[in-house]
Amino acid sequence: MKEEKQAQPIEKHHEQPDNLSRLKKLESDELVNKYFQTTYQPPNLKKARKRLKQDVNVHYDYEIPSDMQSIGKDKTFYIRTYGCQMNEHDTEVMAGLMTAMGYQATDQMKQADVILLNTCAIRENAENKVFGELGHIKPLKKENPDLIVAICGCMSQEESVVNRLLQKHPFVDLIFGTHNIHRLPELIKEAMFSKAMVVEVWSKEGDIIENLPKKRQGKLKAWVNIMYGCDKFCTYCIVPYTRGKERSRLPDDVIAEVKELAQQGYKEVTLLGQNVNAYGKDLPFTYGLGQLMEALTEIDIPRIRFTTSHPRDFDDHLIDVLARGRNLLDHIHLPVQSGSNEILRIMARRHTREDYLALVKKIRERMPEATLTTDIIVGFPNETEAQFEETLQLVEMVGFEHAFTFIYSPREGTPAAKWQDDVPMQVKKERLNRLNALVNKQSRAAMEQYVGEVVTVLVEGESRKDAEVLSGYTERNKLVNFKGSKTLIGQMVPVKITEAKTWSLLGEEI
Ligand code: 5AD
Ligand code: SF4
Repeated sequence: MKEEKQAQPIEKHHEQPDNLSRLKKLESDELVNKYFQTTYQPPNLKKARKRLKQDVNVHYDYEIPSDMQSIGKDKTFYIRTYGCQMNEHDTEVMAGLMTAMGYQATDQMKQADVILLNTCAIRENAENKVFGELGHIKPLKKENPDLIVAICGCMSQEESVVNRLLQKHPFVDLIFGTHNIHRLPELIKEAMFSKAMVVEVWSKEGDIIENLPKKRQGKLKAWVNIMYGCDKFCTYCIVPYTRGKERSRLPDDVIAEVKELAQQGYKEVTLLGQNVNAYGKDLPFTYGLGQLMEALTEIDIPRIRFTTSHPRDFDDHLIDVLARGRNLLDHIHLPVQSGSNEILRIMARRHTREDYLALVKKIRERMPEATLTTDIIVGFPNETEAQFEETLQLVEMVGFEHAFTFIYSPREGTPAAKWQDDVPMQVKKERLNRLNALVNKQSRAAMEQYVGEVVTVLVEGESRKDAEVLSGYTERNKLVNFKGSKTLIGQMVPVKITEAKTWSLLGEEI
């Protein structure tokens, strides 16, 4: 089987980007000649920004090649997922593909025949974790040369990462990108029989492939992609490059998937996209997220959520549809990123503080009970103390019940990475701490309002800390722990809240 990798003449289809420095170009050509087995198109940032409106074809005829359907017999796979829900869901697709190839899932990395790291590129620390993990995997590969180590997800879409893997981690067998997931069977086969590192990354996004097998992690809550990619190009963000242009799934395909999940007994669906409010903009007919949500209210599934929103595309029709309620939950995750107009401008967010507050007002008028949560970045280049304080004020004004807060991390290839990262780390950390203290205070205050109230909990299982306690989430995504019989798992149970903690509620079944 596999021996040590060695240079060999290989067929390559390699499009050289026009925006690399001469040095990098030389270096990468050398590496390409030495190792690349298959198709590699380094992400081309200039071209990405000039994306053309091209039709996206949808394919319904996906099949695992017949010679691959039992290649994993008596073998196991292990997938470690980093990053967002989109990645979690991609992992479910990859697990579906591996299972369809005869592999069995294992939660023991050391025992696996195939290890897949589904990576995240959003911040530097996410990438560092992956390189750290590779350090642990290397000895496994030495023990078992037949082990296949694959790197996929957003990091694979970055040229610098691919080069670093080639230089420093040549024991990796396979690198594939976010547009190539459906090619997993062929790629595993190539990796099995090739002596060279197999690299298949397309800088240009592919078509939409329906009917990929999925092995979902839960039996109650499911993720459903409604669109892929992002065209917003916020100046700090790598996602429009790693995930490609916005492509919406056809409404009928989304509706059919949600119906099927309802039939299978799922109780909650989260619609996924990097900017779900842009849903439908690329379709050849007029259709938006509001219409999609309206259609989904007809389906007998108790809870439908969606994430992530962009304030710019959040339209009145969607608010109208959400306000009617039914199975649509009024928990809205609406990233604001900063409360300062100047910072929002250089982030190219395409909304001002006032736009955001006006949208919140509109949402609150129609949905007075709505829970709002957000994402915030601190320490963006040039952020002054006064600008940061504007963010604190906005957090208070809106009354966010939760926020994901981040220290700005320059991402190579994004416009902001060219600017001086001039807020010292100590100041960034101090701002993050102040922001978190405020967010935690608001979270706790929101939790306290539930004491004495009756909430509906979708019971997911036993609490992690105490097997006698059940836990689940309310419609507003609050974690509730209460004592009850295990027969309640999977049901929607009314619970009276007795005590509030910062991150969870305690209650009694009624
Ligand atoms: N640095 C820090 N945080 C970032 N995010 C996106 N890019 C960066 C970056 N370069 C945050 C944003 C986004 C969330 C998913 O991650 O807040 O909404
Ligand atoms: Fe990144 Fe979200 Fe902005 Fe798209 S809208 S570029 S995913 S932060």
